[in-house]
Amino acid sequence: MLPIHSTVRLRSNLEVDTGDDESEHDLSAAVAKASEYLKEVGGLASKFDEKEFLQDTNLQHAILGLLFGEMLHLAPLSTPRSALDFCCGTSRWSIEFAQAYPGCDVMGTDISDRLQPATTPANYKFQIQDAEKPWQLDTTYDYIHGRALVACFADNRTVIKNAFPHLKSGGYLEIQDGIVPWRGDDDSFRGSNFDKWQNLLCEGLSQTSRDLMDAKNWGRYMREEGFKDVVEQHFFMPINPWAKGQREKLIGLLCQRDWALALPDMSVPVFTKILGWTKEQYDKLMEGLLRDLENTDIHGYMEVYVAYGRKP
Ligand SMILES: C[S@@+](CC[C@H](N)C(=O)[O-])C[C@H]1O[C@@H](n2cnc3c(N)ncnc32)[C@H](O)[C@@H]1O
Repeated sequence: MLPIHSTVRLRSNLEVDTGDDESEHDLSAAVAKASEYLKEVGGLASKFDEKEFLQDTNLQHAILGLLFGEMLHLAPLSTPRSALDFCCGTSRWSIEFAQAYPGCDVMGTDISDRLQPATTPANYKFQIQDAEKPWQLDTTYDYIHGRALVACFADNRTVIKNAFPHLKSGGYLEIQDGIVPWRGDDDSFRGSNFDKWQNLLCEGLSQTSRDLMDAKNWGRYMREEGFKDVVEQHFFMPINPWAKGQREKLIGLLCQRDWALALPDMSVPVFTKILGWTKEQYDKLMEGLLRDLENTDIHGYMEVYVAYGRKP
C-alpha cells in the first residue's frame, strides 16, 4: 500500500521473482490456496443464476480482500450507524459490511436487482437506484461506499455530487476502483498482446462517453466537491504469479483466472461494434491475450485505487 502523489508517476511495489530463491519460487503453496479460494467462490456462485458473472465478481471480491489485508473499508470508521453501498452488484461487499457492523443499517443500491441474493441479513436492504440520477433516498449516511465502478458512468463527477448531500457531516465517502490501462515497470509488458488489447479497448471506448482512465481522478473530484482530508492509496495486482512473495503469487493466480474468465467476453462489443473488427480477428487477439496471461515473463499489473474523504 502506497500513498500517491497526483503529479508523480508511480512504480509499483512489486518485485520480479527471478527464481534465485528456490523456496520463494515454489508455487505449490499459492496454488493450493488459490484452489481453496476458487472452490469457495464456485460454491457461492452456484446459489445464483448468472453463474459465470457471479463467479467472476465473487472472485474479484476475494482478490480485493487479499489486496486490502481483509479490510472492507480503508476510511477510518468507528461505529457507523448507517451506510450505503451504491452500484452494489451482488451485494457481496454490502452483506459482509452489514455482518461486520450489526448495529449499522446498510442499504445497497444498483440500477438492477438481477444479481440480488435470496437471503440477506436483517440490517441490510436493497433498492433499485440509478447512481447517475439524483438519489431518491430520504436519509443521510455515516458512510457511502462504491467499488469497481470503472466505465459505469458518463461522468464520475455526477456521482460524487449525488453522494455529498446524502452524507452526514463527518461522514465518509470511499471509492475503490481499478485503473486502466494495466501497466508494467519494465519493458516486458509493452507491446504484449495484453497491452495491444487494452490500448485498442481504450481507443474504442474513447469514442463513447465512457472514460476507462478516469478512475484515477476520484480523489480530485472529491476535493473539488468540498470533501476534506481526502486520502488516496494505490495497490498493485499482478496479472499472473510473476511477482515475488507468496501473497503476490496468490493474488496473481486468482487474477490470472479472473481475467481469463472476464476479459474475452467483456470487450467483444467494443471491438466488433465500435472498432469494426471481425469476430475472427478478435478471437485471434484473445488467443494472444490468454497466452500472455500464462506467461510469467510478462510483468504486467493493474493498479487498484482507493480514495476516501470526509464531509465537513
Ligand atoms: C462491476 S459491478 C461492481 C459491483 C460491486 N460494487 C462489487 O464491487 O462487487 C458494477 C455494478 O454497477 C452497476 N451499475 C452500472 N451503472 C450503474 C448506474 N448508473 N447506477 C447504478 N448502478 C449501476 C451494475 O449493474 C453492476 O452491478
